Amino acid sequence: MGVVSTQPYDRRAAVSLFSRLRTAKGQADPFPLYAELAARGGVSPAPWGGSLVTEFDVCDQILRSREWLEPDARWRERQGAGTRWNAPSSREMGKTLPALNPPDHTRVRRAAGGFDRSTIADLGRTVETVTDQLLDALVEQLHEGGADFATAVGEELPVAAVGHWLGLPAADWPRLRALTHEQVFTQELLPSASQLARSDAATAELRAYFVDLVRSRRARPGEDPVSRWIQTWDALEPDRAEADEQVYLLALFVVLAALETTATLLTTMALRLVEHPERWDLLTSCPDLVPAFVEESLRYDPPTHVISRVASQDTVLGGVEIRRDEMVHLMVAAAQRDPARHLDPHRFDPLRPPAHLAFSGGIHYCLGAPLARLEAQTLLRRMIERLPRLTLVRPPSWAPRVAFRRPLSLDVAFA
Ligand code: HEM
Repeated sequence: MGVVSTQPYDRRAAVSLFSRLRTAKGQADPFPLYAELAARGGVSPAPWGGSLVTEFDVCDQILRSREWLEPDARWRERQGAGTRWNAPSSREMGKTLPALNPPDHTRVRRAAGGFDRSTIADLGRTVETVTDQLLDALVEQLHEGGADFATAVGEELPVAAVGHWLGLPAADWPRLRALTHEQVFTQELLPSASQLARSDAATAELRAYFVDLVRSRRARPGEDPVSRWIQTWDALEPDRAEADEQVYLLALFVVLAALETTATLLTTMALRLVEHPERWDLLTSCPDLVPAFVEESLRYDPPTHVISRVASQDTVLGGVEIRRDEMVHLMVAAAQRDPARHLDPHRFDPLRPPAHLAFSGGIHYCLGAPLARLEAQTLLRRMIERLPRLTLVRPPSWAPRVAFRRPLSLDVAFA
């Protein structure tokens, strides 16, 4: 059981709360706003239609249940031509893995495969080398007075890891990273028309890039995942153009899913480390806590704050009636601070029993979680092994989003 509603529904107050959330100030600390939201009830109406869920157990249950679906291509079509759901970028996202429901999802997810132990071991060596190079560069900047951890390390490691894994030329990484920052708007909670237009343009450019990549891997196959996906899809799909389309969608989504989210985890995790000197001391004296520190960073402030689903039939959720096709927004960052799930939830405590929804749950559980964890654990371990204690120069700045958190800077210096 989460917080029980104490207030009648006040639409204007809810609108104001989301306007405040969508500012850089709201993103600097969204948690008091989430507490306000939770005080309206574990399940409350969203001002734009649908519902908002802040209770941990209800979010968890929805993610694991077959009764709740992803907003797939058919659902998007039903919302009408003029809606955000039919913007070209949204229609393209509607074809990717996280927007599919069974049985399509089952088939495409199986074809995607995952990160087995030997892939993670291979990637581990690359991640370690890149991490050391990035920390060398960071130390040089620190000797000159200070450094922005977000741009020097947080943004760099994920694109290098995924770039190496997929075999993408390093010269393309900055462009891919910039395009993913633009594309994400179509996946945001409340994109504006101009943000959607930017997302449409980025999606078109990313399509051209990845369609071309699939074409060149088909011509000259290698040992990389894209070449393997081509082989897998050729065995599943007699129509070669359709097989290529499926491989393109997978490569596109993997890059979109991997870059911002992991960059945000790396930077917020570093923030947790530098904002309180005793945390750095705790980890250096007890490096075995590194994995727990990463999991607590994912609970305390996850990269994805909102995950959405739609109802497959009329239902009642936490006392709120929900009609078939209506959307529920799982406010997972708020739910991870639900006092019914975690004692003293606003305290960062790597020693608490881990429980979070940062990688979602059920059939859509993040495919890249092993890679994200590998990067975060390697970076944290190398930081405490190699660097003297760092300190926070000023509070980080944040992009004005809601669903996908993005620290723009993290200025640090030698303590
Ligand atoms: C800290 C980093 C990451 C976070 C917080 C994260 C979070 C998530 C979440 C919340 C979902 C599920 C969305 C839903 O239920 O609708 C998801 C799905 C997915 N993620 Fe991640 N992700 C991260 C890193 C990665 C990486 C590194 C990759 C790839 C290398 C990746 C690939 C995917 C894919 C392919 C899916 C779709 C799975 C499906 O629908 O079956 N993610 N991720």
